[in-house]
Amino acid sequence: MHNDLKKILIDKDKLQNRIMELGKEISKDYKGKDLLVICVLKGGVLFMSDLVQNIDIPLEMDFMAVSSYGNSTHSSGVVRIIKDLDASIENKDLLIVEDIVDSGLTLSYLMDLLKSRGIKSIKVCSLLEKPENKVSNVNVDYIGFQVPDEFVVGYGLDYAQKYRNLPYIGVLKEDIYK
Ligand code: IMP
Ligand code: MG
Repeated sequence: MHNDLKKILIDKDKLQNRIMELGKEISKDYKGKDLLVICVLKGGVLFMSDLVQNIDIPLEMDFMAVSSYGNSTHSSGVVRIIKDLDASIENKDLLIVEDIVDSGLTLSYLMDLLKSRGIKSIKVCSLLEKPENKVSNVNVDYIGFQVPDEFVVGYGLDYAQKYRNLPYIGVLKEDIYK
């Protein structure tokens, strides 16, 4: 385990098994649809990569980058689009892939923006959800794991841009960010 971590919350096997289940479910639900999987960078990138390999129907991928935190550990509610999608999403069935939904503010902003572009449908798949801090009423359709209200890193999730490469989800020691 990385030295800056208090504990491992979800190990590699547990992550991969759950992602396999999610992939199966999504493949079933989107059969015959025009699936466009949208990764929210950078946090969603490891999850997206493993998830699409477990989806066995035709799909397209696109990427979007938003920033909601700066280097602090709490949502500011202010979302900045850093990279928009490359192609038109008109008439597509969108699946947004996120690393974690905490307050839901980032997701709610993103969904409102995408809904205004003539899409057919939109759903959300988030690897993690912290149920305790919901501020907005966004619905997460596919959830990997619910996690307690602690700052987690790894498998795409960062603190100040670090720890994204860890192959598991862990809880950061408090003295690292306090
Ligand atoms: P929300 O707007 O509060 O839902 O925050 C969502 C975004 O904040 C996520 O996409 C993450 O980038 C970041 N975030 C929230 N909680 C954590 C955490 O525990 N670790 C790392 N990033 C987090
Ligand atoms: Mg994120």
